[in-house]
Amino acid sequence: MGNNNDISPPFASRRSFLSLSAAASAALAFRIVTEPMLARARVHNFTKDAIRIDANENPLGPSASAREAAAAIVPQGGRYSDYLTDDLVKTLAEMEGLKLEQVRVYAGSSEPLHHTVAAFASPQRSYVTADPGYEAGMFAAIAAGARVVKVPFTKSYAHDVKAMLAAAPDAGVFYVCTPNNPTGTLTSHSDIEYLVENKPKGSIVLVDEAYIHFADTVSAMDLVKAGKDVILLRTFSKIYGMAGLRCGAAFGRPDLLEKIEHYGGWNFMPITALAAASASLKDAQLVPERKRINARIRGEVFAWLDHNGYSYVPSESNCFMLDTKRPAKTVIDAMAKQNIFIGRIWPVWPTYARITIGTAPEMEQFQAAWQKVMSGAVTASIGAMPSSGELGRRKRNLNGNMIRA
Ligand SMILES: Cc1ncc(COP(=O)(O)O)c(C=O)c1O
Repeated sequence: MGNNNDISPPFASRRSFLSLSAAASAALAFRIVTEPMLARARVHNFTKDAIRIDANENPLGPSASAREAAAAIVPQGGRYSDYLTDDLVKTLAEMEGLKLEQVRVYAGSSEPLHHTVAAFASPQRSYVTADPGYEAGMFAAIAAGARVVKVPFTKSYAHDVKAMLAAAPDAGVFYVCTPNNPTGTLTSHSDIEYLVENKPKGSIVLVDEAYIHFADTVSAMDLVKAGKDVILLRTFSKIYGMAGLRCGAAFGRPDLLEKIEHYGGWNFMPITALAAASASLKDAQLVPERKRINARIRGEVFAWLDHNGYSYVPSESNCFMLDTKRPAKTVIDAMAKQNIFIGRIWPVWPTYARITIGTAPEMEQFQAAWQKVMSGAVTASIGAMPSSGELGRRKRNLNGNMIRA
């Protein structure tokens, strides 16, 4: 079981978003870490034909109705139009059977994720996460000065809730991402319930359902409805294909949501995002259709991997972990040489790389390029492309401090 803070994913980039070595300065507490920062910390200039299966984006983009709604509202862009936020809150509350005050809308779920951790983790209250897990909350915890407790999965790659409880009697936040990023594996509702019922007083369970629409599983929204110590996050960045438009939501008891709000205040949402999100929710076919498309392509990729003897962790989501059987960085670099960008490495599984499900033609190109790397026809040595950590060190050496690049 882990309890280490030896975090070595990419930290510096053109955006120079985070410097752990500089410790948690006051300014860091406000730096929200997001998926593209983590996925693309290294310098990538994508050409138009690049295959980008490195950041769990949806290659389909916003639905037709979402695009129309976003375009149609642009002429009203001179107004804040906060009623549109109220409309989306109302729609979400009705859909989930919640009260209005149990729903908050944000420009993506990264912001409420960061602020929930800031509100409930502290030097006295640790942050507990699965490993490998989505790292953004961990960075928020570090910024808050909280101990980060990383707990390995069960044999079925579920969050080991009993081990999580045992590892952190001082917990402030238990982060449960289901389906999990990066593995796409599920944690059962009964396990989440067990965690909620047995956690230390004053802590919360942060359930991240960014990828729930891709999977055959049950949401933990009923725990929100029941007024438990649960904050649940959803985003329009994944199945709805709106990562660039930015819309997400937090669900929870009003007193819990108020605590988050202290960290972020209130800002107006982009009306294009609100219009597109509302239109997406009205489109009854969107989720089932995209879920079907993703599952079909994912099944085809898995069948191909099985046929060719490659090992991976079976996933219920739009991403999965693929074993490269060597330091995965060399494979990521060799794939990049072929203009195929695959996703990152988690230090606990150094031979695995995360792959996002793209379109069927994209995955065919991925497979062809993968074969070339596995056969040794295309190679890249460690160091062929400097890692972001290396880039960061170089910049620090030059300047003494981290700089914006
Ligand atoms: C598990 C998880 N939670 C939250 C987010 C935040 O996404 P966004 O801010 O785009 O809503 C992501 C993004 O990839 C994610 O993977």
